Amino acid sequence: MACWDFSGKTAILAGGATLIGRATAEAFVAAGASVVIADIDEDGGRAAVAALGERALFVPTDVTDDAAIDACIAQAVETFGGIDYLVNVTTSYIDNGLDTTRADWLRALDIALVGGAMFVQKVAPHLIARKGAIVNFSSISGHCAQAGRFVYPAAKAAVAQLTRSQALEFAPRGVRVNSVTPGWTWSNVMSALSGDDRAKADRVGGAFHMAGRIGDAAEVARGVLFLCSDQASFIMGAELPVDGGYGALGPEQGGNAIADLMG
Ligand SMILES: NC(=O)c1ccc[n+]([C@@H]2O[C@H](COP(=O)([O-])OP(=O)(O)OC[C@H]3O[C@@H](n4cnc5c(N)ncnc54)[C@H](O)[C@@H]3O)[C@@H](O)[C@H]2O)c1
Repeated sequence: MACWDFSGKTAILAGGATLIGRATAEAFVAAGASVVIADIDEDGGRAAVAALGERALFVPTDVTDDAAIDACIAQAVETFGGIDYLVNVTTSYIDNGLDTTRADWLRALDIALVGGAMFVQKVAPHLIARKGAIVNFSSISGHCAQAGRFVYPAAKAAVAQLTRSQALEFAPRGVRVNSVTPGWTWSNVMSALSGDDRAKADRVGGAFHMAGRIGDAAEVARGVLFLCSDQASFIMGAELPVDGGYGALGPEQGGNAIADLMG
């Protein structure tokens, strides 16, 4: 049963064809909203909306292409009459650490950071008209050093900061902007890296999440819906950790370091 009533509302999910995006779309539709999935993954996007029914629309959209963003917004308004929420799920995992080329840096940031910023710029009048909300996707990776990773963590840290700037910009105009900060989440990338072995992903990732496991896409989706809902009316410019305690655990990882020191 849905926790929130989003009847009559419309959300655009940029990057919504992925597992986490689809779970968010499902949660919105279950709560009464219409959703527009904007993604370059045409097969994934069409499969997602086919499963969601008539309150879901897929618009093939490349967030690095301004004209494509404009077309997506126009189609969303034409189909559903307006837009209340923008959720920027899109990311790039292009990252070769120290050896990343300039072209790859710029391509990755265009997808993971600039694309969402342009989507916000272009959809703003619609969200202001409806006193809507924006949720950006940051990550635990934006808060710590990870071996061999330069580009992705930098992009995710920038998303968290951009969220604060956007929140200040839009607060006077009735639009709240926040971000979610997922921990390791069962997703396309986790499935690919683990050989589609959820138990293995839980075993490896569970060591540094207080929850002792990785997260589910539906758990991240609930964080997104909470931030969009009126229940979050006084929450602006915040990062909501949906990370099973990853960010709070610290380098000692729950071990009893004091006892080790004394022993
Ligand atoms: N998977 C995790 O464990 C995890 C952890 C923390 C944060 N996150 C964040 O959650 C979000 C979803 O992550 P994911 O692992 O499901 O990612 P993913 O790579 O599976 O999904 C990204 C989506 O963006 C789309 N996309 C890529 N380039 C695009 C473009 N130019 N235009 C439009 N769409 C484009 C892809 O087709 C895909 O559907 C990301 O923002 C990611 O940073 C994920």
